[in-house]
Amino acid sequence: MSRVPPPLALMAELTHRCPLQCPYCSNPLEMLKAGQERDTAFWFGLIDEAAALGVLQIHFSGGEPTLRADLPRLIAHASMAGLYANLITSAVLLDEAKLRALADAGLGHVQISLQGADPENADRIGNYKGGHNKKLAIARLVPELGMSHTINAVVHRQNLHELPEMIDLALSLGADRLEIAHVQYHGWALRNRAALMPTRAQFEAANTLVEARRAELGARMRIDYVVPDYYADVPKTCMGGWGQKLLNVAPDGRVLPCHAAETIPGLVFDRVGEQPLREIWENGAAFETFRGTAWMQEPCASCALKEQDWGGCRCQALAITGDAAATDPVCALSPRHAEMNAMAAMEAEAGVQNFIYRRI
Ligand code: SF4
Ligand code: FES
Repeated sequence: MSRVPPPLALMAELTHRCPLQCPYCSNPLEMLKAGQERDTAFWFGLIDEAAALGVLQIHFSGGEPTLRADLPRLIAHASMAGLYANLITSAVLLDEAKLRALADAGLGHVQISLQGADPENADRIGNYKGGHNKKLAIARLVPELGMSHTINAVVHRQNLHELPEMIDLALSLGADRLEIAHVQYHGWALRNRAALMPTRAQFEAANTLVEARRAELGARMRIDYVVPDYYADVPKTCMGGWGQKLLNVAPDGRVLPCHAAETIPGLVFDRVGEQPLREIWENGAAFETFRGTAWMQEPCASCALKEQDWGGCRCQALAITGDAAATDPVCALSPRHAEMNAMAAMEAEAGVQNFIYRRI
């Protein structure tokens, strides 16, 4: 028996192409072009390997996964292999016939991202005219076609004033779940941090609102809430722990422990097809580097919580401290914690409005 339990879920990043240009996109700054994407046979093979490894869920993501004409076939293949299929989409390229084809192929769950509640501001954030209303039209169809439905509301300084309306909107769309996620500062979001960082007052108002609406709505709509790291004191268990629950496959077939792992210098990523997926997961160098606790420095190394949060986020530790093995500075015990809080307040107050839009 392997010492490494199988991953629960696999994120299949089918493409980096996307019609939207959100300034907080988690894709890397150097995105892959269409010619570097893997073909249908590749993804079929990966799905088979993932099912054999014990993966239970597959998230079809991107970029915008509906740009791939083979998406219904990939969903059907995953469903036949016994994987629960989730689609993470902007929804702007879908229509009723396309959505129905995905439902017929076995899609179980759809996650649609909203940029806000005000159409004009939402379209400005995604830099895609008319996108917001297209999303709403598709989101309304998801429950009608029998699929579970999450609305993702990514929040930041330039849309937090719309949070009450965003919650009402998700309710009116029949969402089972609303995920309100403050921007995580990796990839494009790190580049746009000064334009996105909420003020402390916004952060506190959002916390109060979410708590009140959760209590009021109960089981009618579950609200999950991802707090903004820069104002938190307790780090997130990023990815459920490095190499413990999740893996990412990039459009070119490289297997990554997290979507931002490419930012960490020196990590080498194996490719599906060149090594068995099981071997990559259990023994791949990139997965082994930060798996478990042996790599930890103080204060993590002697902390009672080290097997709960696994030291937080490696990519964030790198972005703030320059050392991917450092304690995530979100943690109040990190020597860099106060510096991170101060940086957040300074950027939020500076009032930068313009976005650098994500472009291939
Ligand atoms: Fe987690 Fe490390 Fe902070 Fe302990 S010191 S709470 S293990 S990040
Ligand atoms: Fe890479 Fe958190 S995003 S470990």
